[in-house]
Amino acid sequence: LNFIGKDIISVNDMLRNEIDFILEKSEFIENMPVLEKSNLLKGKIIASLFFEPSTRTKDSFTTACYRLGGSITGFTDTSSTSLKKGETLFDTLKMYEIYSDVIVMRHNIEGSARFASECVDIPIINGGDGANQHPTQTLLDLYSIKKNQGKIDGLSIALAGDLKYGRTVHSLACALSLYKDITLYFISPESLKMPDFITELLKERNINFFECNEINDVIDKVDIFYMTRIQGERFPDKTEYEKVKGIYILEKNNLINVKENLKIMHPLPRIDEISKEIDNTPYAYYFEQAANGIPVRQALLSLLTGGIK
Ligand code: CP
Repeated sequence: LNFIGKDIISVNDMLRNEIDFILEKSEFIENMPVLEKSNLLKGKIIASLFFEPSTRTKDSFTTACYRLGGSITGFTDTSSTSLKKGETLFDTLKMYEIYSDVIVMRHNIEGSARFASECVDIPIINGGDGANQHPTQTLLDLYSIKKNQGKIDGLSIALAGDLKYGRTVHSLACALSLYKDITLYFISPESLKMPDFITELLKERNINFFECNEINDVIDKVDIFYMTRIQGERFPDKTEYEKVKGIYILEKNNLINVKENLKIMHPLPRIDEISKEIDNTPYAYYFEQAANGIPVRQALLSLLTGGIK
């Protein structure tokens, strides 16, 4: 497989063998001696264009890049750029096409990453476009699942919280539908159910999925419990947010009868949906999950620029 020059916009553009290839390369890079990998991005410049706040995606790409010998340009605050003076997204992207070798972009508008890929000839990596997709999060989620369960096929996985506006669960559900014998449980309030365009795709691919409202209906059955934050910033009507804010809080007493191999994952940031008392249990995996973002993003940057093949 050859990823040189490719865009990473949506998991729906990917085949299972391409995802598995990226996961294998992530493991390869994670196990590479530090000095050996320190030149994989030598001479390369990554543009990090963040129109929305981020800790993990932005700074794990930055760390991934620096540790491979590359450099970073870009912005985290559009008010310090000429976008503030009215420059268009198209013209802005054309500038970073000149300045860099790969663009990582997070934007609040759904479809913006696809648009960016049509504006420039260098690779675009979607760091999250509105409530749509977050493909690099999904790759690190799959890498994490494979690492903590030894496989992805055959697992039962619960996705909980804001399934309407959460782009991580949209991307992850689509990607999991490429694996065999997967059972998905969607836990959300009625107003934040998984959108039809995802459930229709799952039906087309004959994936077993169940929708429910309560954590305790499901948690004892699953290998992975993937919790998400209610995405307050995406609600058009803040009174609707107030109705569901804090609706799920995973606590130690939810874990009494869970499977021994259960891992609790969360893309982070968390607000209050996983109680801190869970952090020190053997089930908590969300900080390791975030750490897995480094080798996965290192693999992506190296594959797109030809540092590894
Ligand atoms: N998981 C994730 O996308 O986190 P950030 O918003 O901090 O990048």
